[in-house]
Amino acid sequence: MQSVGEQTYTQAVREGKYDLYVGNLFGKYDNVRTYWEDQLTRIALRPCLTHLVDRKREAGQKVRICDLGCGAGQGYQILTKIDRRDLDLGLQHQRVLNEDEISTYLGLDISQAMVEKGSVLFADKPQLQFAQADLREGLGKIKQEQPFDIYFSSYGSLSHLGRQDLVKLLTDVCEHGHDGSLIVLDLIGRYSIEWPDFWSAESESEKVRQYTMSYLYSETARQEIDIESFPLRFWAGSEVKQLADELAAATGTGLEIINMMDRSILVGRHTDTHEYNPALKPIRRLINSLHEDYLRTDLGDLILDLDVPDHPQITPRLQQLMKSWNTLVEYCQHRLCHNFCLPELKGWNDFPKPLQFSLMTMDRVIADVGWMWYGDPRANIIEPQLGYALRTLEYDMQRGSGCGHGLVAILQLKK
Ligand SMILES: C[S@@+](CC[C@H](N)C(=O)[O-])C[C@H]1O[C@@H](n2cnc3c(N)ncnc32)[C@H](O)[C@@H]1O
Repeated sequence: MQSVGEQTYTQAVREGKYDLYVGNLFGKYDNVRTYWEDQLTRIALRPCLTHLVDRKREAGQKVRICDLGCGAGQGYQILTKIDRRDLDLGLQHQRVLNEDEISTYLGLDISQAMVEKGSVLFADKPQLQFAQADLREGLGKIKQEQPFDIYFSSYGSLSHLGRQDLVKLLTDVCEHGHDGSLIVLDLIGRYSIEWPDFWSAESESEKVRQYTMSYLYSETARQEIDIESFPLRFWAGSEVKQLADELAAATGTGLEIINMMDRSILVGRHTDTHEYNPALKPIRRLINSLHEDYLRTDLGDLILDLDVPDHPQITPRLQQLMKSWNTLVEYCQHRLCHNFCLPELKGWNDFPKPLQFSLMTMDRVIADVGWMWYGDPRANIIEPQLGYALRTLEYDMQRGSGCGHGLVAILQLKK
């Protein structure tokens, strides 16, 4: 059987990369994963999860979760740390799903090392269970258990499965789940700027490519050691829609797509490694630096000048996003040293709304924080805010088409 990255994952666990909260500038839990990716997954999930949890609460029931390709239980951290609403300054956290509202979180993963790690990390929480399972064989004996309220996946896990295997797994999920169960598919996007060569894939075999997680290693190690590669299936948003229609027809189950999201459009993992596109700037590293305290970033390095392949739907959107990104960065660079009146900015009236909003936000942040003296307000307040503004720009301008490193689809069963 083909590799599913067993060697990479076992080694990553051994080196502590799947421990809780490790990283920041590099590695598995870098700042982009923490402040962009996991947060955006939470933002996308919030409305439908709130609805689901409220229904369970009213029925006096707890929530059952199955995490597909769970790693060491990262999904549990994502799902239990979603705020019910955007917090104003006076509020404390009120979570959508509290830990004591979960009756079962069952994490399934093919990697024994991951399963063991998860069991150790969450040993004090009996509602979490981890089991080794190969999802290419569908849900397997899990089908004998009660249905789950959420069939979850995070961080590209389901791209480890070829299309046929994913159909098999999701057919099981459609049959096993109940009316209202949520299905969260986390896949790798085909139209990411990280791999322009993959954009033209047409046949099924062209959509499956060799992939490495070389970003887990230092630049020196990348030159010196052989890093395992394994096949991943890369997805376009339109294909996920087709897949959902196909599954609904084959299983006779209603399957509604609630949300599709491109995640990490300009900051994918492999912007830093140059593994598939040597023309890229190490944008992820720079965004990690924006979010790091007591570290100033040269904002000029964030300016993008990038050729992307010609695609009638994807290319114009990417170009519009990059133009907005550059306008925001250039404005902040200038605003750090000068006073400026925003509406005088050339082209203001034609800017997309998300850009206008992010410019106004950053203008106020810089004006309100610039006088402060304690700590380093630029590194510790202004730059992280710029990180969030860029993240919001990406999120507001995406359409779930498969042009991010990650493609998240949230579906709901209607039975
Ligand atoms: C990129 S990791 C994501 C882990 C975790 N969900 C997260 O958010 O960090 C992908 C996970 O999928 C697992 N995986 C790959 N192929 C699999 C298969 N056929 N069956 C079950 N798990 C698989 C890997 O072992 C790995 O833990």
